[in-house]
Amino acid sequence: TRPLILDCDPGQDDAISLMMALSPSSGLDVRAITVSAGNTSLDKCQRNARLIAEICGQQGGARNIPVFAGCETPLHYPLATAEEVHGVEGLDGIDIYEPALPLQDEHAVDAIIRLCRELDDVVLVPTGPLTNIATALTRAPDIAPKIAEIVLMGGARSEAGNITPSAEFNIYVDPHAAAIVFNASVAKTVFALDVTHKALIRDTHVDKIEKLDTPMSRILTGMLRSDYAEYDRAKFGTSGTPIHDACTTAYLLRPDVFTFKDVSVQVEADSPITRGHTSVDYWQMTGNPTDTKWAIDVDGAGFFDLMIERIAAYP
Ligand code: BDR
Ligand code: CA
Repeated sequence: TRPLILDCDPGQDDAISLMMALSPSSGLDVRAITVSAGNTSLDKCQRNARLIAEICGQQGGARNIPVFAGCETPLHYPLATAEEVHGVEGLDGIDIYEPALPLQDEHAVDAIIRLCRELDDVVLVPTGPLTNIATALTRAPDIAPKIAEIVLMGGARSEAGNITPSAEFNIYVDPHAAAIVFNASVAKTVFALDVTHKALIRDTHVDKIEKLDTPMSRILTGMLRSDYAEYDRAKFGTSGTPIHDACTTAYLLRPDVFTFKDVSVQVEADSPITRGHTSVDYWQMTGNPTDTKWAIDVDGAGFFDLMIERIAAYP
């Protein structure tokens, strides 16, 4: 099993992804949680990451995973956040308090560089803006060959954007960082809105989670019954709630739940209209290297069976 670095901005869907990855006997080797600003400020996102990691450990999952705070703002744009989706604390639906799990002193970018140099076949799993990852790749180009794969949530091709008509939130917030990541010669696996909008959680799934009747299931049920769960239904008319970021962990646990097409991707960074647009070369028109596995479909039932199985693993 390859060592993982989960780079996130929790966020309920980031939190669910963490709960799955850190669940008892998940088989995943999580070495670090690094945090970027995104859904809310860096300060709140790092607190939320420590809170979720602490709860996972207390409930029988992986314990004492080190949490590192990263970049406070995108490379060139001011930070845009999504409190209207996730709540003022970034994590509506659960009790917020200062966790005992400490924040590491080391900066997330330094931690990413150090771990990539120390370990082989590292898998980076970003589920927020790509600022930390891009900064690490720029500052330490020697780490690129040490990275086995970057498994990320971001972008949109067959679906419209969710923050502007052209762009998905994570790529929109820091398109310059996203461009660096998509241009890097590292294998990428991408879960964009194309596929996250096909894995919608419905009331029947939430009922199943609630029936597990464990501390973890109660925490998750609270999140899935908060205003967060209504946002996409109300705004985009979806028939359930996408749990975008959990697609990354689901893939790491069970890759066959998804189908992919090999593509290359370019990111628009500077246009005021299409900032953060992912230009996906689906039919190989550019001649650019097809180093990106773009998820095009998901077995929705398999995805939710897996999510429920991972939550049920907490006693
Ligand atoms: C992405 O944006 C954030 O709001 C979510 O956490 C997810 O990473 C979806 O566009
Ligand atoms: Ca996220």
